Formats: sequence, C-alpha cells, structure tokens
Amino acid sequence: MKKIKVGVIGPAGRMGKEIVGVIDSNPRCEVFYPLNRDDKFDAKKAKQVDVWIDFSSPDALKDVLKRAAEHKTPVVCGTTGFSKKEKDLLAQYSKKIPVLWSSNMSLGVAVLNETLKNLSAISHFDFQIEEIHHNRKKDKPSGTAITLQENLEKAVGKKLPEALAIRGGGVFGVHKVYSMSDEEVLVFEHSALNRTVFAKGAVMAAEWLVKQKPGLYQIRDVLFGKKA
Ligand SMILES: NC(=O)c1ccc[n+]([C@@H]2O[C@H](COP(=O)([O-])OP(=O)(O)OC[C@H]3O[C@@H](n4cnc5c(N)ncnc54)[C@H](OP(=O)(O)O)[C@@H]3O)[C@@H](O)[C@H]2O)c1
Repeated sequence: MKKIKVGVIGPAGRMGKEIVGVIDSNPRCEVFYPLNRDDKFDAKKAKQVDVWIDFSSPDALKDVLKRAAEHKTPVVCGTTGFSKKEKDLLAQYSKKIPVLWSSNMSLGVAVLNETLKNLSAISHFDFQIEEIHHNRKKDKPSGTAITLQENLEKAVGKKLPEALAIRGGGVFGVHKVYSMSDEEVLVFEHSALNRTVFAKGAVMAAEWLVKQKPGLYQIRDVLFGKKA
C-alpha cells in the first residue's frame, strides 16, 4: 500500500510533535516533509507531498497556502488566532485546493458544535461560554470558544457576551457552554485529556481530505459529511 506523504509545518512545536507521533504510529501515512521555520524550502520535495498539516502561527499561513496551491496539495490547518484577513485567505485558496480548518480538531468538540443547534429551542435562556487553557497559550479567548460562540449565536439568534477565558497551569483545553434560566441550568462540557486528541483528529482529517475536491472544510464534515 502506498503511504500518504504528509508535510508537517512546525514539527518541533507542541502540536507538531504530537502530529509526528500520531503519523509515525499510523500505517497508512508517513512524515515525508517536516518543515521548520528556518529550513530552506525544498520545492522539489514539496511537490511530492500529498497533504500538509499546519499547526504553527498565523504568520505562516500565507506561505503554506501559496506553496500548497502550486502543486494542488490539500492543507489541514489547526492554527488559531486568525484575523479576518487570514480567514479570507483560507476561503480564497479553498477555491483552488481542499482546505480543512478547524479551531479544534477533537471529535468531541465537533459533536458539541453540532449539538448547539438544539439550543434554538431555549433561545430565551441566558448563555455564557467559558474556557480554560495552559498559561503558554497565545490567543484569548481560544479559537474553539470563538467557533462555539459563532455556532451558539447562530442557533439562538442573538448576540452573546464574550467567552470567559482562564489561563493557568498545563490545562490542554476545557470548554463549557452554560444555558441558564430562572429554573434550570444546562451545562455542556468538553475536556481535552491530552494534545494527542487534536493530532489524531488532524491526521484523520488529512486522510479524508486527500480524497476531496477543492473547498473549505471543517472537522465536522469528516464526521457528518459536507454541509450543502
Ligand atoms: N485546532 C486544534 O485542535 C488546536 C489544538 C491545539 C493547538 N492549536 C493551535 O495550534 C497552533 C500551534 O500551537 P502549539 O501549542 O503547538 O504552539 P507552539 O508550541 O508554539 O508551536 C508552533 C510551532 O510552529 C512553528 N512556527 C511558528 N510560526 C512559523 C512560521 N511562520 N513558519 C514556520 N514555522 C512556524 C514554531 O516555530 P518557532 O519555535 O521557530 O516559532 C513552532 O515550532 C496554535 O495556533 C494553537 O492555538 C490548535
């Protein structure tokens, strides 16, 4: 069986190391091109990459997409903290290549995002999102909290207070969605128990994305199929 050749951007980062580890234990994939910030870019090698996985920083995005588009190579991106301009870049390049971006690659959070649709039935409740992350995290609130908030606001049809962000210790990621009325409180909670959960989701997404047409995808599409 031919292995999927994966290019990993930022392989020495916290997530990069996890991704390399998950690929190494996956018999269908291989780490073909680990690309560090200071490495000289090898266009010949890049041409052979089947899919890029990028968990680095917003300033890497433009080069990653540009280089991938040259060879029509799909890109799985998990970087967070993007501006509107960078989100537009994802959309623009997704017309040429398959691009899958998710602020959280865990399957549990993908299901939670879908579940939020049900809160439309209690849209008159008060809502608040809370997130906790390790003290090295650069963006605030987390990309996951922002995505949950967007989906929640869509479901309940109103603007909600910004997510509360707590930073401390080594917490991999906790997200809570509170729905509150005078009589009851409903809380959805997701906890990442390690970083491997995000890496496994990203590699699963990469295996799926190599079979897709150009377009902008999310991890939910891997589980539920692409939204029409
Ligand atoms: N979607 C998800 O499920 C998920 C889960 C966890 C984290 N994340 C996100 O993933 C990103 C990385 O997180 P992390 O904790 O792994 O951070 P990290 O430990 O700081 O690692 C980032 C890596 O990317 C490299 N890098 C940064 N900018 C680069 C550039 N312009 N070109 C090439 N390489 C570059 C860094 O190299 P240097 O050391 O040289 O800067 C570093 O090796 C963050 O945006 C984080 O929020 C997403």
